[in-house]
Amino acid sequence: MAPSYALERLQDLEPTAAQFRSAVLDGLAQRQKRLPCKFFYDAEGSRLFDAICDLPEYYPTRTECRILEVRARDIADLLGRRVRLVEFGSGAGYKVRLLLRTLSEPAAYVPVDISRSQLLSAATSLARDFPALHIAPMCADYTQPFSLPNSTQKVALATAGFFPGSTIGNFNPEQAWAFLAQARRLLGRGAWMIVGVDVHKDSAVLNAAYNDAAGVTAAFNLNLLRRINRELDGTFDLEAFRHRAFYNEAERRIEMHLISLRDQSVDVGDEAFTFAAGETIHTEDSYKYAIGDFQRLAAGAGFEPVAAWTDPDRLFAIHMLRAS
Ligand SMILES: C[S@@+](CC[C@H](N)C(=O)[O-])C[C@H]1O[C@@H](n2cnc3c(N)ncnc32)[C@H](O)[C@@H]1O
Repeated sequence: MAPSYALERLQDLEPTAAQFRSAVLDGLAQRQKRLPCKFFYDAEGSRLFDAICDLPEYYPTRTECRILEVRARDIADLLGRRVRLVEFGSGAGYKVRLLLRTLSEPAAYVPVDISRSQLLSAATSLARDFPALHIAPMCADYTQPFSLPNSTQKVALATAGFFPGSTIGNFNPEQAWAFLAQARRLLGRGAWMIVGVDVHKDSAVLNAAYNDAAGVTAAFNLNLLRRINRELDGTFDLEAFRHRAFYNEAERRIEMHLISLRDQSVDVGDEAFTFAAGETIHTEDSYKYAIGDFQRLAAGAGFEPVAAWTDPDRLFAIHMLRAS
């Protein structure tokens, strides 16, 4: 029997193996070796990220969820009836449920994520729980241009973007500006944008969040090397690299690196790369913003700040923006 929910077939714009290879080879050829954090999320990377969200040191997820729970009614009142929700980096699709439960007759949901396996299972599970919701999953890199399915426009009275998890912090401020400007074009004039942003704070809290005692963030970071070994014929020895994360106060960002524990040479396919002991691969940044600083950035990209909600300890902020 056909399922009774409105789940469209997944649109597949997943980066190809050739794009992954080219990004890895380019990054490892730089003086400060780099790997793009968007490639963390194979099936194991997505699983490890979800485990990070449950760690006692990792305050962002539970704090953001709490703000969303408290503010769900305010958000629903602003968005109105029959909204089309476009989520960037939808992951396990847990946070959007906090909104969908309160929105008035939500019309369509477009989860956009680079991790196809997780996107499919999250979309299927949401479709079961929200059978009246039209769901159109898109496996895509949201830094690249794409368009929204026409089918979702027909059923909606308004459009809202949703970008939780402080994933916007993985961009540097110029890239964040470019992302917001592109999202504004994608969503259209008058669209809402709900962005979860981690707030600049005491470095001890930040350093603990990215150096958990159980070593899950370390496993998440190292999994990128495992993925390169598997998908690009790499020869990384995972015992010869160690996770390192620290708050760079001047740049207001957490930096994640993989540090080489000895002099070594690593192959990726036919290319060889040498590492000195102590040399690092810079794998991720997570920028932190004061509320006013993020509002100014968003305004520069064409989004008027409407509200910014925080928790009592001002650890995290949900920004409500509107495309002007
Ligand atoms: C930090 S996790 C956040 C997950 C979830 N939104 C949350 O708040 O818990 C980042 C998510 O964005 C996805 N992602 C990262 N870079 C991406 C990109 N360039 N394009 C599309 N999805 C991306 C990952 O697969 C992952 O699901």
